[in-house]
Amino acid sequence: MIDPFGRRVSYLRVSVTDRCDLRCVYCMAEDMTFLPKAEVLSLEELDRLCGAFIGLGVDKIRLTGGEPLVRKNVISLFRNLGARLGAGGLKELTVTTNGTQLTKMAGDLYSAGVRRINVSLDTLDPATFAAVTRWGKIEPTLDGIFAAKAAGLHVKINAVAMKGVNEGEFDRMIAWCGEHGLDLCLIETMPLGEIDGSRNDQYLPLSTVRTRLRQNWTLEETDYSTGGPARYFTVKETGQRIGFITPLTHNFCESCNRVRVTCTGTLYMCLGQDDAADLRRPLRDSTLDDEGLKAAILEAISRKPKGHDFVIDRQARAPAVARHMSVTGG
Ligand code: GTP
Ligand code: 5AD
Ligand code: SF4
Repeated sequence: MIDPFGRRVSYLRVSVTDRCDLRCVYCMAEDMTFLPKAEVLSLEELDRLCGAFIGLGVDKIRLTGGEPLVRKNVISLFRNLGARLGAGGLKELTVTTNGTQLTKMAGDLYSAGVRRINVSLDTLDPATFAAVTRWGKIEPTLDGIFAAKAAGLHVKINAVAMKGVNEGEFDRMIAWCGEHGLDLCLIETMPLGEIDGSRNDQYLPLSTVRTRLRQNWTLEETDYSTGGPARYFTVKETGQRIGFITPLTHNFCESCNRVRVTCTGTLYMCLGQDDAADLRRPLRDSTLDDEGLKAAILEAISRKPKGHDFVIDRQARAPAVARHMSVTGG
C-alpha cells in the first residue's frame, strides 16, 4: 500500500475498545460517554479486518484502546493474530497498555507471540499518578510492568511530558528505567479532544527537555528504530534507550508508515486529521468478500493526507481534532 506521497503503509494500529479503567487528564474528559456495544466490531470482525490489511502489506499490528486489555476475551484476538506471525505475513504483534491487567495477562501475551509492549506510566510518584489518571493507583501498573519483564516481554515506558506535573521527574525515571532494564519514551502532548484543563498550560517542548537532560546524562545518537515515530538515543550511563516523540517541535509525518482503525471499524489515515473511511459497512456487507474489503481500504489509503496540523496555540479555543485520543489509541 503506497499513499499519494510515496509512503509505504505497513503499520496498523487497532483500537479494540474506547473504554479504559483510568482517565488520564490529557486523554479523556472525566465524564466520557462510551460507545454502545452494538456499534463495536466483534473480535472475529477485527481479526478479519486485520487479515485484510496484512493481505495488503501490513506487517506490524499494535492493539491499543482505550485500554485494550480490559476488553473481554481480547486474548483470543491476540492468539488469532499471533497465528499470522511469520509465514502469515505479520512481523510484529504488539500492544500499548496502561499495565493494570498485565499481572494476569503478560504470560498469555507472550504465548500469543507478543515480544515487545509499551506501557503508559507518566510518573513514579503515587500522588501524581492518582492526579494524572484521576483515580488510579500506581501499584497495579508497576506490578504489571515487572510481570511483563518476568514473562520475557521487552517493555518500553511511555510518558507524556507535562509542565508542572512530571517535568521534574525525568531524571528519576531515566535512572529507574536503567535499574529495571526498561526503555523510556517521552511524548509531547497532542491537542485531541476537549479535556477539562488546558493543554496549553501543560505543553512542554521536548527540545528543551532534551537539552536539560544532557546536563546529567550522555545521550548517544543511535539509528535504532521500531518503525514508530520516536527518535532514539542510548543513555550511556544506563545502557537503556530513550526516545522522543515530538509531533509539535519536530514533525515526523514525512516518514509516516501507519494508519489506525477504531473499534467501530472507522479507518483514520492520520491521527491529526478528521478524514476517515467506514470499513464496518463493507465488513458487514454479506455481498462483499475480502477483495471488496481490501478495495475499500485501498480507496482510503489513496486519500492519506500529508500530515497533521497540530499546534499548541494560546489563542486556540478548540483542540485541533475533536475526537479524543482514546478513540484512535494514538
Ligand atoms: P513503537 O512500535 O514502540 O515505535 O510504538 P509507537 O510509538 O508507534 O506506539 P505507542 O502506542 O507507544 O505510541 C506512542 C505515542 O506516539 C502516542 O502518543 C501516539 O499517539 C504517538 N503516535 C503514534 N503514531 C503517531 C503518528 O502517526 N502521529 C502522531 N502525531 N503521533 C503518533
Ligand atoms: N498526547 C500525547 N500522547 C497521548 N497519549 C494519550 N493521549 C495523548 C495526548 N493527548 C498517549 C498515552 C499512551 C499512548 C497511546 O498515547 O499515554 O501511551
Ligand atoms: Fe486510559 Fe491510556 Fe487514555 Fe490513560 S492514556 S486514559 S490509560 S486510554
